[in-house]
Amino acid sequence: MRVLIKNGRLIDSSTGRNANMDLLIEDGKVNKVAPMIEGIEADTVINASGKFVMPGFIDMHVHLREPGFEHKETIKTGARAAARGGFTTICAMPNTKPVIDCQEMAELAIEKAKKEAIINVIQVGAITKGQEGKELADIDGMKRAGVIALSEDGKSVMDAALYREALKKAKKHNMTVLAHCEDKNLVGNGVLNAGKKAEELGMPGITNAVEDVIVARDILLAKETGARLHLCHCSTKDSVDLVSWGKEQGLSLTAEVCPHHFTLTEDDILGDDANYKMNPPLRSRADVEALRKAMSDGVMDVIATDHAPHSAEEKACSIKDAPFGIVGLETAYSLAVTELVDNGWISHYQLCEKLTKNPARILGIERGSLAVGSVADIVITDPTAEYVIDSSKFVSMGHNTPFDGKKVRGKIWMTLVAGNIVYRGEQDND
Ligand code: DOR
Ligand code: ZN
Ligand code: ZN
Repeated sequence: MRVLIKNGRLIDSSTGRNANMDLLIEDGKVNKVAPMIEGIEADTVINASGKFVMPGFIDMHVHLREPGFEHKETIKTGARAAARGGFTTICAMPNTKPVIDCQEMAELAIEKAKKEAIINVIQVGAITKGQEGKELADIDGMKRAGVIALSEDGKSVMDAALYREALKKAKKHNMTVLAHCEDKNLVGNGVLNAGKKAEELGMPGITNAVEDVIVARDILLAKETGARLHLCHCSTKDSVDLVSWGKEQGLSLTAEVCPHHFTLTEDDILGDDANYKMNPPLRSRADVEALRKAMSDGVMDVIATDHAPHSAEEKACSIKDAPFGIVGLETAYSLAVTELVDNGWISHYQLCEKLTKNPARILGIERGSLAVGSVADIVITDPTAEYVIDSSKFVSMGHNTPFDGKKVRGKIWMTLVAGNIVYRGEQDND
């Protein structure tokens, strides 16, 4: 099987390529990259004129909800949503029911994803049994099952001594720890950023320190143990400064920002609408500015979605009572182009780095590259196409987004996994 992608602009931060190039795929792998590939008989020729050709995006932070919450999302629907968003590899968080916390559960989840997902799914294992924070999960067993990353996402392991043991094990097994930073005692019953908006709406607040104290703790424990630490969904200006400090120490430390956190501030919450409720919450203008700057200077390494589907019924109530989380897979690229590239914070090349090369490096996976010999996981985008986000068109089962009706630029045009087309957008020029 030969697929030839012609006339596109190849952006590949792993090889430094950023120019018009043709790309030939043979048997699922990148076979040749050259300014002009001619005289080759291909089974499929894709004309990518005016488009960007990049390694398939990697989302380090997705909630697939299966097993246990199939009314919110399944592996199958979440994977299709990923493909529509240009993602060819995603990390599935373990806060399912039951929690993925042992070898057997991990094996089941990995098998199921292999059968049902049209993209690659990396199963993340929990840090403690049942995510209860009391006893370490079966980390050795999960390692044997092929798990390469651990997370307690949804909460932090509050017992610092137990967490340190987990970091030591992760280091021993060369696993990356994906840290959700939230002090359980400080957060109380907070639902929105502690500030004017929460006061106005009469909602309990979540202060920046709820995040920052655990960010600081985790960085110090990574320093002590030498573990590879990646901070999830950073939302505050002090978390940026703390990550910057940790990196100056030479630690194996990286961090991600979600599109909603670099796009919206608490002032964008117009009323008691649960589609604006996520954890961590939308912060102040000063925090958002710090995050954007950190995207630009590289303190923040990755864009990840924290795709958190919930049913319409669950979200159809007050912010006070609704579950935390919004969907993100199908809007991430457009929001990044619109908010970060078009506003001059980062280039398309840097965007490519944050969606491909950096997550691959942090996870230690052989993806995020279109070098000859690589697996042909590819996204083709139309960087100038403008459209209005329509959540009724999402293929995710979750439609919980604050971005419905937002005008954006930059659209996914085609997604390929190992050379096979898994998503095809409206084809405007053929
Ligand atoms: O908003 C969130 N939703 N934040 C989390 O940490 C968990 C997630 C979920 O599982 O719904
Ligand atoms: Zn989280
Ligand atoms: Zn999450």
